[in-house]
Amino acid sequence: MQSNQAYRQNQVKGKLKMRVLGIETSCDETGVAVYCQSAGLLAHQVHSQVDLHARYGGVVPELASRDHVRRLSPMIEETLAMAGITRHALSGVAYTRGPGLVGALLVGAAFGRSLAWGLGIPAIGVHHMEAHLLAPMLDVENPPAFPFVALLVSGGHTMLVLAAGTGRYRLLGTTLDDAVGEAFDKTATLLGLPYPGGPALERLARLGDPDRFRFPRPMTDRPGLDFSFSGLKTHARNTLARAGTEAAADIARAFQDAVVDTLSIKCRRALQETGVSTLLVAGGVGANQAIRSRLDSVAHTSSARLFVPPPALCTDNGAMVAYAGAQRLLAGEHASLSFDVAPRWPLDTLTAPG
Ligand code: KG4
Ligand code: ZN
Repeated sequence: MQSNQAYRQNQVKGKLKMRVLGIETSCDETGVAVYCQSAGLLAHQVHSQVDLHARYGGVVPELASRDHVRRLSPMIEETLAMAGITRHALSGVAYTRGPGLVGALLVGAAFGRSLAWGLGIPAIGVHHMEAHLLAPMLDVENPPAFPFVALLVSGGHTMLVLAAGTGRYRLLGTTLDDAVGEAFDKTATLLGLPYPGGPALERLARLGDPDRFRFPRPMTDRPGLDFSFSGLKTHARNTLARAGTEAAADIARAFQDAVVDTLSIKCRRALQETGVSTLLVAGGVGANQAIRSRLDSVAHTSSARLFVPPPALCTDNGAMVAYAGAQRLLAGEHASLSFDVAPRWPLDTLTAPG
């Protein structure tokens, strides 16, 4: 019989060897990754469906689901090969359970669940925004520590969250209308930029005159940590009608400056109100350089540390799903044989793993 100590040592060794396959299919990116608890990220690949949806000016859910079906199996084979392992070396499979497009979610859930069942290993359905929120922890050399304030900014969400531990999240503020990524995308469309608008608007804003127009900083003149971005888009539309398309770069600049100011004011306030000294940014809009550098100075003047994943881990990817899934699998959580997806799933209903 093993002594208690030997048993515990074996358990620790088992945990360190934990290798989790992550599958992300909540929207228009197919993401696959292998994360190892001791060695970190072993491999990750993202296939973007941008070209597929570009001519429609937005994501077409049915086309998204079908493309996930086409890509997932070969991408998993390739990613395992890149990681230098076979599927039999996996200890678990994590897939995005929600929130997201129901058809797209079902592809990843059905695939992940079946693969795990076939291999006789546990599967876990991960919350997409928790995965974004934990993505900075993939940095093995310099991971952030709890508690932290997280600014989650994506195409569907804009939230300030106080994270006390894995699964222990308090919503400090959210958007009352458009998500910040949605505002970027809609404003970009108004300015005649190609889909997806966020990165294109950022590039155009670099050419713009910062002093020509001044847009409002919504909801910064009153207390609280909520946001509102739909007015900025209207402001852009009215300015464009007045000044004409020749002013597109200046409008992009004024829009982005207003977003950057608004986000930074609220982040500073969130750090002050919570007394926390770590700020983390995650989600697709976190790839924006202007936002990253301004939040860097917010952190500096608030005596806080800023953690932002590299741009490739800010936008949707399988690595963050593998990491978030690994944390929950390590705590003994896993999905039951009957599975579901959750297209609408509030982050602050999660509980700590285990
Ligand atoms: O997290 P994400 O990849 O997908 C969602 O879960 O929504 O975020 C996508 C959003 C889109 O609205 C996209 O335009 C925006 O992130 N985005 C950016 C930039 N890169 C992506 N917005 C502003 N500047 C960027 N560089
Ligand atoms: Zn996302």
